[in-house]
Amino acid sequence: MKIKSAEFTISAVKPEQYPEGNQPEIALAGRSNVGKSSLINRMLNRRNLARTSSKPGKTQTLNYYHINQQFYFVDLPGYGFARVPQAIKAQWSKMIEHYLSKRENLKLVLQLVDIRHAPSKEDVAMYEWLNHYGLPKVVIATKADKISRGQWQKHMKIIRNALQMDPSVPFIPFSAETGQGKEELWNVITSFIDT
Ligand code: GTP
Ligand code: MG
Repeated sequence: MKIKSAEFTISAVKPEQYPEGNQPEIALAGRSNVGKSSLINRMLNRRNLARTSSKPGKTQTLNYYHINQQFYFVDLPGYGFARVPQAIKAQWSKMIEHYLSKRENLKLVLQLVDIRHAPSKEDVAMYEWLNHYGLPKVVIATKADKISRGQWQKHMKIIRNALQMDPSVPFIPFSAETGQGKEELWNVITSFIDT
């Protein structure tokens, strides 16, 4: 994918703020700190377009990024952040659920899990939930640079089993540090958006 333009569009807190029109949207789901914003930046070759932070829970809104004036990345709020009041958590999950279950423009969900760790309860719940709604998905094992390449298969097998992944679902080791997995992910994404 040649990136001709990439712009931040809006931090949406309610559906009325989602962009108009019917351009395809690719959403990113995953726990806080898993590397959603970093993945967006790497995919778009922009260092700081999506704000990243070592403090989890930074992204609390649906952040839209418009690419080549043709489609959007939608950075969803990270789940599983412990130090957030229950009422706020409930509000986030309602917003995420509503978006994932109702948004017609949504063509593909990138579910991010950290390659180093077994998926959390929330990761499993998210995967099941995406299945339930029949949403096309890709699972991305992030921070692949943090373990040696020889360890990838072993870790990915643990993730595959915990999520009970269907073998037909693409599963990509990815590193925002090195760019590992970037081309493979673009290939999957472009197959879901007809540009
Ligand atoms: P929230 O917005 O809080 O939900 O987090 P996020 O999922 O957007 O994570 P973010 O991209 O902000 O990354 C969190 C931390 O992990 C940052 O310190 C990143 O630099 C680091 N990080 C993200 N991806 C990678 C990666 O591929 N390799 C390494 N080594 N570090 C990464
Ligand atoms: Mg983020």
